[in-house]
Amino acid sequence: MKAAVMRANNAPLVIEDVEIDAPGPGEVLLKTAASGICHSDLTVIEGGLPVPPPCILGHEPAGIVEAVGAGVTDFVPGDHVIGCLTAWCGVCKFCTQGRPYLCLTQFAGRPGGAKPRLRAANGDPIAQFANLSSFAEKMLCPERSLVKIRNDMPLDRASLIGCGVTTGLGAALNTVHIPAGASVVIVGCGGVGLSALQGARIVGAGKIIAVDAQAWKFDLAQKLGATHCIDAKAGDPVAAVHALTGGGADFVFECIGLVPTVQQAIAMTGRGGTAVLVGVVPIQHLVSISAADITLSEKKITGSYMGSNRFRFDMPKYIDFYLDGRLRLDEMISSRVQLGEVNAAFDRMRKGEAARQVIVFE
Ligand SMILES: NC(=O)c1ccc[n+]([C@@H]2O[C@H](COP(=O)([O-])OP(=O)(O)OC[C@H]3O[C@@H](n4cnc5c(N)ncnc54)[C@H](O)[C@@H]3O)[C@@H](O)[C@H]2O)c1
Ligand SMILES: [Zn+2]
Ligand SMILES: [Zn+2]
Repeated sequence: MKAAVMRANNAPLVIEDVEIDAPGPGEVLLKTAASGICHSDLTVIEGGLPVPPPCILGHEPAGIVEAVGAGVTDFVPGDHVIGCLTAWCGVCKFCTQGRPYLCLTQFAGRPGGAKPRLRAANGDPIAQFANLSSFAEKMLCPERSLVKIRNDMPLDRASLIGCGVTTGLGAALNTVHIPAGASVVIVGCGGVGLSALQGARIVGAGKIIAVDAQAWKFDLAQKLGATHCIDAKAGDPVAAVHALTGGGADFVFECIGLVPTVQQAIAMTGRGGTAVLVGVVPIQHLVSISAADITLSEKKITGSYMGSNRFRFDMPKYIDFYLDGRLRLDEMISSRVQLGEVNAAFDRMRKGEAARQVIVFE
């Protein structure tokens, strides 16, 4: 099969012929139908998350089951599925607490001594990213990375739910609880931010303020539910949020992952409000904040990982949201590309020229 392999950091992905193993116990072989391109893939390429090459990235997939390994009971060939990077074990402290997205077994891979799932043409192992590696024509995944979905859901739009939609929508629906009428700011209108924005709209937030450095995004943000838009390049976005909210918002979702925008998000949060950190700041960077501001204003800061998901429960629900018109995904796809165009898609992402880009496979 063809796959886009990260051979080195800060270099274009290389389209190669890659061998994929047959499904072992508890594993499912998929034909990839579509894979969204998430900024976290770019963060890995740029060395901001510690994933050594060679590795096949891509973690926002939808596909069709081709074969299942021994003991797999939840899937049969022909099933339509979404893959999610938060595989769960079902028995650890986090899983039994109802927070399976924090399960630590999720990056365990195959048992020691087993053949790698992915190999280069010369037989050398290639690492699988988050049990998924969806920048490839086929995928070999643990069954607990997958959820079966309705067959009437178009697979290109389903793929978005695999990461960006689940992350953003879940940040608004699961990580925090937004009372109807509360003021919400979304900092960064990529696939993740536009999904958090839709979550705010779905729960009935009051003012929904979209902040981005690319003013062309504001038409789209308004279509998806923004009541106000702030161009981060046209002045101080913190002052603009304070002016619109009378001193700061109830909830601010940082959906970029940069030190200055995390600081801005905390400063945009009003007294008693909550800053939700969704963007992944490269691990080498530390953020300094005023502890006194947090204490004296009783602000809360929370991380939100993968939309605090229970994905076998959440993802079919998000598909129902789409099919009944509440979640808008068509507008979020700014382009559909072939696997061979993946590097050009990352260039557009770097320049802020894209909303969500999706690789579609034949
Ligand atoms: N918490 C999680 O579990 C999780 C999951 C997926 C992605 N992420 C992270 O979420 C973030 C967003 O991902 P995405 O795929 O939506 O990214 P994206 O690149 O599609 O979108 C980022 C947006 O931020 C805007 N932006 C960039 N710099 C800005 C600035 N200084 N001021 C205002 N706007 C600015 C861009 O114009 C763009 O619209 C990334 O950090 C990604 O790694 C986190
Ligand atoms: Zn992602
Ligand atoms: Zn677990």
